[in-house]
Amino acid sequence: MTYEVAGKTAVITGAASGIGLGMAKAFARAGMNLVLADVDGERLDEAVAICAAIGVGAIGVAADVAEPAQVEQIAERTLSEFGSVHVVSNNAGVGISGPVDEMSLDDWRWIIDVNLWGVIHGVRTFLPLLRAQGEGHLTATASMAGLAGGPMLGAYHVAKHGVVGLMDSVRAELELAGSPVRASVLCPGPVDTAVVGSERHRHPDSQRHERGESEQRFWDGLVSALASGMNPDVVGELVLSAVEQERFWILTEPNEHVTMVQRRLDAIRADNDLSG
Ligand SMILES: NC(=O)c1ccc[n+]([C@@H]2O[C@H](COP(=O)([O-])OP(=O)(O)OC[C@H]3O[C@@H](n4cnc5c(N)ncnc54)[C@H](O)[C@@H]3O)[C@@H](O)[C@H]2O)c1
Repeated sequence: MTYEVAGKTAVITGAASGIGLGMAKAFARAGMNLVLADVDGERLDEAVAICAAIGVGAIGVAADVAEPAQVEQIAERTLSEFGSVHVVSNNAGVGISGPVDEMSLDDWRWIIDVNLWGVIHGVRTFLPLLRAQGEGHLTATASMAGLAGGPMLGAYHVAKHGVVGLMDSVRAELELAGSPVRASVLCPGPVDTAVVGSERHRHPDSQRHERGESEQRFWDGLVSALASGMNPDVVGELVLSAVEQERFWILTEPNEHVTMVQRRLDAIRADNDLSG
């Protein structure tokens, strides 16, 4: 099956930078009208200008995805401007490091509010619209951190595992209902974006404390892995093809990442005497 996107309307959250902007450009080149949402009003205006220059209708909506009423406003603006919505990408996200027992409650809430509740609000707002319309595709950006565990990003892992679980439930329920609406989940490995500067939008009083030695080592490795990571425009194209080809799992480096998931399955087998 394939889905024809030209002339349709896409909503993307976290669209002012990185992967969201990469998706916006890919969707615009495929002829979609765009509603770009982000907390960063200044960069949002630049993103709208970039997409409009490609020759499609594009508007920006300043919104915080952690606030359900603001996510509903994104839907209202989309319907009033373009009349309908077809592809929704719940992509906005933030990341900070920290050992699980050192993260403050404020750190936990911020990560979960944006990365998980932001997607829940997006699903609750847009899924009924797509189902009623009998057409469309709902996607969300999780991470490889949603498919495998690891140190120093506990809150991020929790949120991204939640996004994977949520989108898999959406997929299963759409299938159960025989709905033509499709779902997918993007699980990128390292991508060269501004995500390591996520705290730029956070009040200085809430920003994370200084890092201990091992956290700092981890963080430096992460920053350098991301700097040599995939170009976000390439990730945008991967998401576009998954929407067009109606695929659920979107991995950026499938060979390497499937091996990481396999390691978890191997550990489950080994700990339960199934390894032989
Ligand atoms: N860069 C990577 O290596 C990588 C890997 C896996 C997953 N991801 C995920 O990709 C998604 C996009 O991140 P990115 O890497 O492009 O980073 P980015 O910082 O370049 O872009 C994220 C965008 O989200 C916006 N944003 C942040 N909080 C928001 C909020 N509360 N409401 C609305 N918008 C908000 C930011 O202003 C920014 O424009 C995130 O969900 C991130 O967790 C990134």
